[in-house]
Amino acid sequence: MMCAPGAYLYYSRTGSDVMAVAGQRVGVFSMYASGTGHDEAFPIIIETFYNETWHKRYSEYMLSTTLTTLWSVSVAIFSVGGIFGSFSVGLRNSMLIVNVLAFIAAALMGFSKLAESWEMLIIGRFIVGLYSGLSTGFVCTNVGEIAPTSLRGALGTLHQLGIVTGILLAQKSWGPLQCGPSYLALLSSQPYSSVPCCPSAPRAHATSSSTRTRRPKPRLVMLKKDESRQMMREKKVTIPELFRSSLYRQPIFIAIMLQLSQQFSGINAVFYFSTGIFEKAGVSEPVYATIGAGVVNTAFTVVSLFIVERAGRRSLHLIGLMGMAVSSVLMTIAMALLDQVKWMSYVSIVAIFSFVAFFEIGPGPIPWFIVAELFSQGPRPSAIAVAGFSNWFANFLVGMSFQYVEELTGPYVFIIFTILLLIFFVFTYFKVPETKGRTFEEISASFRSGADKYTQDDLNTLGADSQL
Ligand code: GLC
Repeated sequence: MMCAPGAYLYYSRTGSDVMAVAGQRVGVFSMYASGTGHDEAFPIIIETFYNETWHKRYSEYMLSTTLTTLWSVSVAIFSVGGIFGSFSVGLRNSMLIVNVLAFIAAALMGFSKLAESWEMLIIGRFIVGLYSGLSTGFVCTNVGEIAPTSLRGALGTLHQLGIVTGILLAQKSWGPLQCGPSYLALLSSQPYSSVPCCPSAPRAHATSSSTRTRRPKPRLVMLKKDESRQMMREKKVTIPELFRSSLYRQPIFIAIMLQLSQQFSGINAVFYFSTGIFEKAGVSEPVYATIGAGVVNTAFTVVSLFIVERAGRRSLHLIGLMGMAVSSVLMTIAMALLDQVKWMSYVSIVAIFSFVAFFEIGPGPIPWFIVAELFSQGPRPSAIAVAGFSNWFANFLVGMSFQYVEELTGPYVFIIFTILLLIFFVFTYFKVPETKGRTFEEISASFRSGADKYTQDDLNTLGADSQL
């Protein structure tokens, strides 16, 4: 089977396990589709490709250590790209840039085999990582900015729906569809259709156009008058200012903790390593259980989409974290008792499915879009960049360390996530405010009233006419 190497690189390997690490996402469904294929032969295909290209060039085969290093680099480089990409959120024309990145990445990965170049594949992985980091930031900013207050949560959840649909499309059952560079190129070309109608920073765009024209554009009608006036006065806040100012310290801390709660919940340990986990849990057809997890993942994102505006972000995040903590205890019990009680393999499937379902109820979609809600226009781009960085960095850490930790802890590995989930639950309970139905201005005003004392610098960032 000849498949686009980029599609395959979602997966990494420990021993005989095939595990997904840092999936590449090429644009489809609001920016995402994980171009992945699940196949036990996958690492072998890539390693053979690396080895053969090396042999053609140097007339000798690679040392196994070189091969392992190249493999690890190929896997890790995606999240490294994500880390850099998330910092570029404030760039002009981000919408255009991500689409160009997606095309370049698809072309590099898709043609790497033809060009007999493993370097093209690794660079392609890095570029698709840049693409993903950049788009996770600006999709949330743009959706948050153009959505009416009453629909901000539901529309924000569509971003996560794009991601999970991508993950689902990438699983084995869809494998044959993904084979060949043309599939990747096709996926990558989808977002282009949206470029002409999307300004890269809608509020800033709306504000500046209002200063040039007498008649405001229709989208301005959605902004409250006083909110837009305040926005015009607000200076752009840099990342160091975000941490220095007592005005933003609390919301930026909340934003970072929410990203960490998403990644350190252990969700990607399940997605990257699910087949291995199911195998260890004694499931006879682990690949189908993995696909089942993808279906549950998508279905519960849809559930969240419909309830987020009624239930609110804070309560859904709390329910999600607690549900995941309980599921991970169940998973640990099932894995620990597997040798004595055979039917524990079914319990582990139920536990993993409910772990994934609770993730999508809250911790999956909410951290992505809530950052845009916690900040007003001035600090928003920097806050989104910091939050994106935290998310991708935590993603990288879980992807790289899970297999080693699992070797040390055996079936008890998910206890670590249980403890972290409980810590994040307590944090959310005491620190995260409800943002449902409130304007950006109302939300940031609530943080202002909580800040101890403003410096003149703080007031300057809020507006030129503020005085101590
Ligand atoms: C969120 C996370 C991502 C994870 C996905 C699983 O989008 O950011 O890392 O793979 O959910 O659905």
